[in-house]
Amino acid sequence: MPLNIAMDGPVGAGKSSIAAEVARRLGILHLDTGAMYRAIGLTALRRGVDVADEAAAVALSKELDISVAHEPDGQHTFVNGEDVTGLIRTPEVSMAASSISKYLGVRQGMVALQQKLAAQTPMLVDGRDICLRVLPNATVKLYLTASAEERARRRWLEMQQKGASDTYEQVLEDLKKRDDQDMNREVDPLRPTEDAVIVDSTEMNFEQVVEYILAIVKEKTA
Ligand code: DC
Repeated sequence: MPLNIAMDGPVGAGKSSIAAEVARRLGILHLDTGAMYRAIGLTALRRGVDVADEAAAVALSKELDISVAHEPDGQHTFVNGEDVTGLIRTPEVSMAASSISKYLGVRQGMVALQQKLAAQTPMLVDGRDICLRVLPNATVKLYLTASAEERARRRWLEMQQKGASDTYEQVLEDLKKRDDQDMNREVDPLRPTEDAVIVDSTEMNFEQVVEYILAIVKEKTA
């Protein structure tokens, strides 16, 4: 079995950027599973599919061909061959992704695809259900988190740099709403599994988190 590292955590914990850097330093691929749910969410918005309609959301997800490619600048995500990487980071797509990801029928297809990818090559996979469902036998399991206020602050700074006009309060409110949806859904809600190492980055900077995780990986793979 190739080396598999599973990383879960709530919105804005820095999973994607931390996971990308840890994977780069280990020389393995990084799979951002949130991007796959975002790709379905984007398509639902584009086609006017009601994300509250389970049957419609599941039918849409089954019809779509979601794929990823690992390029030098990171993961690219495709819907029916179209590269949607630059279109899936908006607040609307975030919420749509969170909504469609509640449904078992949507999740089953994505989990199977993610498991297939991780079985082929050493990989760090990040998401919400990776430790529990996607890679229950992963060599290393991590739960990356930080306080809601700190996560909102980081996300807000990032959005400001991109020229967005959202207020900090707005970002915090959206983040709490999405946390609530992801943590309280019926199917595989986000929560740390018993065997996951909890990494609370509230008081840590980027480099400290990366170093800390690399040390955990070293210990677990020794
Ligand atoms: O990690 P992210 O913010 O890009 O994920 C977007 C949404 O997709 C998130 O709110 C919940 C859902 N998701 C999921 O249910 N399971 C995963 N493995 C990854 C993401």
